[in-house]
Amino acid sequence: MNRLDALKRHTTVVADTGDVEAIREFAPQDATTNPSLILKAAEQERYRDLVDRSLAAARGRAGGERERTEVFLDELFVAFGREILRIVPGRVSTEVDARLSFDTEGTVAKARRLIELYERDGVDRERVLIKIASTWEGIRAAALLEQHRIHCNLTLLFGFAQAVACAEAGVTLVSPFVGRIYDYWRAARGVDDIPLDDDPGVASVARIWSYYKTFGYRTEVMGASFRKAGQVVRLAGCDLLTISPQLLTELAGSDGDVPRALTPDAAAALRLERISLDEKGFRWLHNSDEMAVAKLAEGIRLFDRDARKLERFARERVAG
Ligand code: E4P
Repeated sequence: MNRLDALKRHTTVVADTGDVEAIREFAPQDATTNPSLILKAAEQERYRDLVDRSLAAARGRAGGERERTEVFLDELFVAFGREILRIVPGRVSTEVDARLSFDTEGTVAKARRLIELYERDGVDRERVLIKIASTWEGIRAAALLEQHRIHCNLTLLFGFAQAVACAEAGVTLVSPFVGRIYDYWRAARGVDDIPLDDDPGVASVARIWSYYKTFGYRTEVMGASFRKAGQVVRLAGCDLLTISPQLLTELAGSDGDVPRALTPDAAAALRLERISLDEKGFRWLHNSDEMAVAKLAEGIRLFDRDARKLERFARERVAG
């Protein structure tokens, strides 16, 4: 059996890409997108039709170039999501603009707008996860949205405070990042690689999963941001793992067993203590984790950079 099929016995496999054709190849259950992935896909000639249709919707709108650009981007994100949902049986994650990362009201409004567009196109909201950065403001927005059956995927999750606050807010799913934590510690330690046994990104996801299972939180854990197939394999048993097409290809191309790594027994052995966080407690605990502070801030900047590139791409089309 190839290692991708072996992994699927323990974990729901999700494709981490906006590339619809790549998703078709690996038969994942769900798919995740982000502004960087949509930008990469939108620039490809084979998705020109999706770009053109989003453009047509934007051109028909009243308002100035700024409003039309926003309409174009919303339509484009939903157009990719809709195409992906023709292939995957499960859900697609669509990210809100990174500029809204510290704006609870703005995030709620954008999420509602995206869901409105999906529902206009006949997509059930149960099949969509609105992806929001795991800031305090983002987590509050998610708590409100979940009350209206708008399900959320809290992303850019690097630290334990973020994970605890998301679970307490009752969000549907969290995406703790592995690779960016690994990147941080590789740079900090000045090494080329960190062995899997010592990988802080893998350990972070294992701890969050164990915490949720130990204390009965229903929030699903989806490990994200992988740099090596070994990191994926070490998290077999996690609820979901979102994996890039490159690593999906590697896993599908090699045979071998993938034993379950995350188990209730291993979780119990960690002897975790339950904590509760209000805003002050969240900010304090999050702030005490230098890596999480740096990577959350950087993650927001990077998604914003690609969203702005996407906006320039949109402006050129809208103007043309
Ligand atoms: C998925 O939800 C994340 O956006 C993605 O895994 C990030 O991966 P990266 O760290 O390779 O950008």
